[in-house]
Amino acid sequence: MTLEAESYDFVVVANRLPVDSVTEPDGSQGWKLSPGGLVTALEPVMRSADGAWIGWPGAADTHIDPFEHDGITMVPVALDETEVERYYEGFSNDTLWPLYHDVIAQPSYHREWWDSYVTVNRRFADRAAALASHGGVVWVHDYQLQLVPGMLREKRPDLTIGFFNHIPFPAYGLYSQLPWRRQILSGLLGADVIGFQRTADAGNFQRAVRRLFGYETRGSSIRVPLEDTSERRPEKSRTVVARAFPISIDSASFAELAQNPDVIERARQIREDLGNPKTILFGVDRLDYTKGIRHRLKAFAELLQDGRLDAEETTLIQVASPSRERVAAYMELRDEIEMTVGRINGDYGSIGRAPVHYLHHGYPRDEMVALYLAADVMLVTALRDGMNLVAKEYVASRIDGDGVLILSEFAGASDDLRQALLINPHDIQGVKEAIMTAVDMEPRERKRRMRALRRRVLENDVAKWSQTFLDELSRASHASGGAPVPGGADAEDAREDRE
Ligand code: G6P
Repeated sequence: MTLEAESYDFVVVANRLPVDSVTEPDGSQGWKLSPGGLVTALEPVMRSADGAWIGWPGAADTHIDPFEHDGITMVPVALDETEVERYYEGFSNDTLWPLYHDVIAQPSYHREWWDSYVTVNRRFADRAAALASHGGVVWVHDYQLQLVPGMLREKRPDLTIGFFNHIPFPAYGLYSQLPWRRQILSGLLGADVIGFQRTADAGNFQRAVRRLFGYETRGSSIRVPLEDTSERRPEKSRTVVARAFPISIDSASFAELAQNPDVIERARQIREDLGNPKTILFGVDRLDYTKGIRHRLKAFAELLQDGRLDAEETTLIQVASPSRERVAAYMELRDEIEMTVGRINGDYGSIGRAPVHYLHHGYPRDEMVALYLAADVMLVTALRDGMNLVAKEYVASRIDGDGVLILSEFAGASDDLRQALLINPHDIQGVKEAIMTAVDMEPRERKRRMRALRRRVLENDVAKWSQTFLDELSRASHASGGAPVPGGADAEDAREDRE
């Protein structure tokens, strides 16, 4: 079967393919589904609807033909070394990432990075245009590919196009810095439905559209004139929906792992290896300046300094998985974090006891769940975060109903997880008080809070998220006379209406 010649009713376009390359025991190269929630959520739709996933395999100059993995067609898009530097590390992660995360780090604006972003977005769009069946559905993901919806609509007006932004969308005062602010908005407005994590993100986007284009918005609907902007008559417009769809995790699979005797034993082992401290605090993040790792270390160090926490009884485990290691801001952050950890351990450690256990690795999901089970207090101190799935993973894993979540109000997850101890990570005193409240919290209060949190996370899982998005896309498709959306709830109704 030549996969290239096929066409697909449901196409996902994301910067990365949802697979990691692995070396099989016989030495051959194989693929393993990456543990992310997105692919878990979309797997059933992909399988039943004849789906394809277009994405970058993650290394420069990797030219691979489309292949099938676990019933999903994977369509690799190659990036050369310069494109990795300019499109991925440059424009995506050194321009858009800091800008969209409230300029915690200074964004760099370079015209050659933008040119590369356009070229690569065009490549993804062309690939999707060639693969999607007539009247099919294309769902584009994240800030790396914001031009794809517009490029795709131009080539294939028959398609129903969705876009989901996994990171925040900044306030207009910041967004307006972007020299290509109009082009990005036009790209996004090529979609029928634009999803954001928080209502505030969708609001920021709508405001930008009003300010830059003057289009009319009502509720979640934006009226986009079709061609001639000078003559904006209602019948000459299309409706784009922009609203929040807070993403979640595959909650049941975390709860299931947390019941696995091997994982429970591993959690016990972790505590024992640390000398069975009274309290284990835990943080796990990509090593990224948006995550507030420095702020959390500062609060912890001050509590040791003040004598409110005892280094003999308290351990902080900080897992920081390597990320975007060739981008300068990330290299600087790593140096800074590692120096701080060294300083804390030097000042407050003793033979055989380090107050901070810092691990610069990624871990498989079962080890993560063991760590969640071992942790008395989970620290999520992001300065800005689209959602923060770690917070939800911790809650889903605590089937024992115990554990305290400290959660930044600047993470999207805080909209939903109100029973966490909510903090402003810039307020170091406030973070210190929250840590002490967590450490001293009575079991009854811990369980009351965790019960409420668990209800939210188990009810709103990632399957529900994708279902809600596809339902909205289905309505959009139906309204414009398009084909039913695979996996959309009213797919059947829409089909009947058309027949
Ligand atoms: C965030 C982004 C994703 C991205 C991930 C890892 O979650 O929203 O689009 O894939 O970080 O970053 P990386 O640069 O390694 O893909």
